[in-house]
Amino acid sequence: MVPLETIQHSSLPGFDVTIMFLQIGLQSVLESHCLPISRVLTTGKLQVQHLFWEPVVRHRYNMSHPMKLVPYTPRSDAAGELVLAEVRRRRQREFRHLCRLTVLGRLNSCWGRVDHSRILGKLPGQMLATSQGVPLLVRRPSLEDYVLLMKRGPTISYPKDIKAMLLLMDIHPGDTVLESGSGSGAMSLFLSRAVGPQGRVISYEIRQDHHALAKKNYRLWRDAWVIGHVEEWPDNVDFIKQDILTAAEDMKSVTFDAVALDMLDPQTALPIVYPNLKQGGVCAVYLANITQVIDLLQGIRTSKLPLLCEQIIELIQREWLIKPVRKKDSRLAPRVEAQQNVDEEPQQDEEYLVQEQAVIGGSEGDESLSEHVGSVPYIARPYPWQVGHTGEKCLDRTFIILNFV
Ligand SMILES: C[S@@+](CC[C@H](N)C(=O)[O-])C[C@H]1O[C@@H](n2cnc3c(N)ncnc32)[C@H](O)[C@@H]1O
Repeated sequence: MVPLETIQHSSLPGFDVTIMFLQIGLQSVLESHCLPISRVLTTGKLQVQHLFWEPVVRHRYNMSHPMKLVPYTPRSDAAGELVLAEVRRRRQREFRHLCRLTVLGRLNSCWGRVDHSRILGKLPGQMLATSQGVPLLVRRPSLEDYVLLMKRGPTISYPKDIKAMLLLMDIHPGDTVLESGSGSGAMSLFLSRAVGPQGRVISYEIRQDHHALAKKNYRLWRDAWVIGHVEEWPDNVDFIKQDILTAAEDMKSVTFDAVALDMLDPQTALPIVYPNLKQGGVCAVYLANITQVIDLLQGIRTSKLPLLCEQIIELIQREWLIKPVRKKDSRLAPRVEAQQNVDEEPQQDEEYLVQEQAVIGGSEGDESLSEHVGSVPYIARPYPWQVGHTGEKCLDRTFIILNFV
């Protein structure tokens, strides 16, 4: 079992604000309590029991309501709950699959199969062995998981960027937000959650196929959500199939707290939308390259729009590998105290293994029981890849924060 203190801000050099997220079985518990957990940065060989967390979390955060631990519920039709199945080895995901649970369904992969009936009735966050004996982590997808794995038409706004945009737009529950275009519906879903049941999102999309897909992705998420949660996902997004450039008249009576634009030539939409943005309100514009950023700023300047460019941001997200150093025989390496002024040949016989061990079914055995804090050296380095759109080699997506002044 893991004490809550394990999840903490790290003080390793090179980290900005980094939060470790212990993945196995905890996501839905932590999310349902709004704990400040962000990314999966490391996993461990953890045996976590949900019930252990309830008194700890409730005591620490002074929560009076009961935990919302809803097991996977059987449904005979195809509209069951969403389940995310993952195979992880060497601290990386080798397989990730999102599907809907049905009584007769079966999850097939080259790691073996798992009948849905084995998942139904269980709490999410379980390890199940496939028919080939490979451990499969089965859990409820977070909104970020869903958005990354749902069917896509146009490119989505990437969740790492959406989360920052929501903060910078200062969106609160109860707000009214304008979005254009709906695209695949990724941004719409995050906006829907941010404004909550009292708020409203109005999302314009010019293309019929994208409009239909955004609506479908939104509906699928809501339908699956209500099966596995106590409260409903708000039905607060109005998807409108219309060119935003022709929507000035329709929007006349609405004042927006914020505007999110992710479309070609957003500078053409600004003169239409800014009169409905509240004074001091924020418009976030998501752009694919620097040429578009320049075009946008030039459009604002030449049209003399009362919009102040507050920030132009490219978000870089690095994930880190942190693991104990192991010897070649896979035993944990002991910490060696630094010695000063000692000329010594480097040891030839005890090479340390820097290859990663499998997360699941590793060979630590009982040795970890005798381990005490600080006795084992750790490797800590960023992974060589970055989270972002696959196409961009030098520049990821950029967003601009405009203030209506
Ligand atoms: C990159 S996608 C948006 C993706 C969306 N943010 C998401 O997260 O799924 C851009 C969308 O803007 C739409 N679009 C372009 N011009 C538009 C306009 N004038 N009015 C409404 N939608 C428009 C496109 O059809 C496309 O679906």
